[in-house]
Amino acid sequence: MDGVLAVASSKGGVGKTTTIVMIAEYFRKRCRVALLDADPNQKLISWLGDETGVSRVEGITLKSLVGQNIVEAITEAKAQHDIVIVDFAGALTQEMVFGFGYAAAVVIPSGSSKGDIDEARKTYQVVEQTTALLSAGNPSFSLPAKVLLCKVRLNTDTYKAAKQQLAAWNVPVFGDDAHVPHRTSFEKAWWHKCSPQEVADAALKKQIESVCGAIAALAGLAPPEAKAVTGKSPRARKAPRTATPA
Ligand SMILES: Nc1ncnc2c1ncn2[C@@H]1O[C@H](COP(=O)(O)OP(=O)(O)OP(=O)(O)O)[C@@H](O)[C@H]1O
Ligand SMILES: [Mg+2]
Repeated sequence: MDGVLAVASSKGGVGKTTTIVMIAEYFRKRCRVALLDADPNQKLISWLGDETGVSRVEGITLKSLVGQNIVEAITEAKAQHDIVIVDFAGALTQEMVFGFGYAAAVVIPSGSSKGDIDEARKTYQVVEQTTALLSAGNPSFSLPAKVLLCKVRLNTDTYKAAKQQLAAWNVPVFGDDAHVPHRTSFEKAWWHKCSPQEVADAALKKQIESVCGAIAALAGLAPPEAKAVTGKSPRARKAPRTATPA
């Protein structure tokens, strides 16, 4: 296994970092995972890192890309890990294009509002432009990408409208079995600084497993079966009193 996964959208707050924490939890039981935080807000680092930004979670290495060269950081992380996942700022950036150039796949999280879907399309267009640019020199270059509908409610009118709009634009989207439902467990995971899997009920865990499997398949990453986890879990701190129960 050797792959770089980019999780990106030109829109903020659509579920990029949450998606990455979910996938990292899925993969860390199977292989060595590096997470690169290219968002100046460093939310991934503050979610999974200790006070100095070092990962609190066994099997996951964390690295900030603020002030770093993304190309060098990806190359270095790839040499020591089986999967490298990059979290980008919620904007169209130069770093995003560089990251796409190295990626095995791009996941574009999006809500189902019209504004979110418009931004998902813009991000997909960057994937298409990167593909056009790089396939000029390397005809075998390909960059699979799909929109991941997050914070959505299946079978609602807005969910259906979002899917129809993306289909009309020929923007690929994961199937209904791989959507991320709107659940307070995801917010709770942030407060507890743990993975969503740790606070999810059985049904949500199953859904998360399905989403992670679909993302792994998109990137052509066939992970070995999960090992029994002996390491530290990301649970480290008690949730503040304000935390909302799932
Ligand atoms: N499926 C979900 N259901 C409910 N809330 C969610 C879900 N996914 C994420 N959230 C919440 O939505 C907010 C934004 O999520 P997240 O930080 O993952 O998005 P982001 O795209 O990384 O945002 P930013 O661009 O600001 O980095 C967070 O408060 C998170 O807890
Ligand atoms: Mg984020």
